[in-house]
Amino acid sequence: MHWASVLLVASLCRVSMSQYEDYEDMFWLQAYLRSQSSSYNYSPYYGDEVPAYSYIPAESPDGEPVPEPPVSRECPHECECPPNFSSALYCDTRNLKYIPFVPSRMKYAYFQNNQITTIQEGAFDNATSLEWIALHGNQITSEKMGKRVFAKLKNLERLYLDHNNLTKMPTPLPRSLRELHLGYNQISRVPSNALEGLENLTALYLGHNQILEIGSNLRGLKSLIVVDLSYNQLRRVPDGLPSSLEQLYLDHNQIYSVSEDFFKASPRLHYVRMSHNSLTNDGLASNAFNTSSLLELDLSYNRLQKIPKVSTSLENFYLQGNRINGAQKSE
Ligand SMILES: *[C@@H]1O[C@H](CO)[C@@H](O)[C@H](O)[C@H]1NC(C)=O
Ligand SMILES: *[C@@H]1O[C@H](CO)[C@@H](O)[C@H](O)[C@H]1NC(C)=O
Ligand SMILES: *[C@@H]1O[C@H](CO)[C@@H](O)[C@H](O)[C@H]1NC(C)=O
Ligand SMILES: *[C@@H]1O[C@H](CO)[C@@H](O)[C@H](O)[C@H]1NC(C)=O
Ligand SMILES: *[C@@H]1O[C@H](CO)[C@@H](O)[C@H](O)[C@H]1NC(C)=O
Repeated sequence: MHWASVLLVASLCRVSMSQYEDYEDMFWLQAYLRSQSSSYNYSPYYGDEVPAYSYIPAESPDGEPVPEPPVSRECPHECECPPNFSSALYCDTRNLKYIPFVPSRMKYAYFQNNQITTIQEGAFDNATSLEWIALHGNQITSEKMGKRVFAKLKNLERLYLDHNNLTKMPTPLPRSLRELHLGYNQISRVPSNALEGLENLTALYLGHNQILEIGSNLRGLKSLIVVDLSYNQLRRVPDGLPSSLEQLYLDHNQIYSVSEDFFKASPRLHYVRMSHNSLTNDGLASNAFNTSSLLELDLSYNRLQKIPKVSTSLENFYLQGNRINGAQKSE
């Protein structure tokens, strides 16, 4: 690092620095300098999904850099705040046991792969601009999650809480949510109000939990496109599906029956996985799977003795691991 560039950076940032002389003294400047050196290997966890950097350094006509408008540089000392991506807070993979203070300018906050057990009351109260929160790969328990920690986040679109120790659904959830990731926890119950009003939710991941029953919780989710309930303990299919649904994953449960019109409620449903359940021919209504929207149907590893009726538009049909004898054909 040459002195010239240090001075250049210092003069570039003088405006905002003066505001924070007593705060984490030169932290952000150090981070900036590191970001300029080749060893600073900045790689977002969700590589292809992270929004593009918005700051493009401007130049005045005589080639002098124009100073950035003063933006808050506040950054918790445990984390990194890339200087050219001022709405992102990177606190992932650093043995954190708690959630650091989230400055109010943040839209994206990454806390994944730490040892966080607690979401303290009010943890996100000053960060109402948050759109994404990544908390997966921690040890958060439901008992140590403050009440209504997500409730005020009116802009929250993606919440990653998979691979934690949750035993309950986090509630209430903001209605702005589009993706909810809760896989690999120990949730056993989905209360009837847990997903209420999530009109924009397109993806719901609840696989690898201990859910016994989902009831009619999915029915009102009018934007839902994909739902993953695989690896749970469901004995029944959900009581009603939204008409927007395209992908339904119910594999590795204990489902034994499917009614006649179950799939017909969702005219866009293309992919259904029900492998490793307890389906028998007696439990299936005769035209349960004969629905023209289905393109892929996985019924492998059940207890079927006959091939169920399917639509001629089905493209992939998996039946291995059943008890089907000979070449019985359904008509
Ligand atoms: C922002 O910083 C990162 C990491 O140093 C760099 O890869 C990227 O090109 C920078 N973007 C802009 C617009 O300066
Ligand atoms: C949160 O914001 C309020 C109002 O702007 C402020 O009074 C309070 O100190 C902030 N909390 C923290 C932890 O900074
Ligand atoms: C979370 O679950 C893991 C694995 O089951 C366990 O080892 C760990 O102690 C649990 N942590 C808490 C805080 O309950
Ligand atoms: C749902 O998405 C639409 C379109 O993006 C948006 O206008 C609306 O405010 C969102 N609803 C909620 C409750 O955030
Ligand atoms: C499947 O459903 C269609 C239309 O509902 C019907 O015409 C067809 O006979 C059914 N197929 C079988 C094998 O029952």
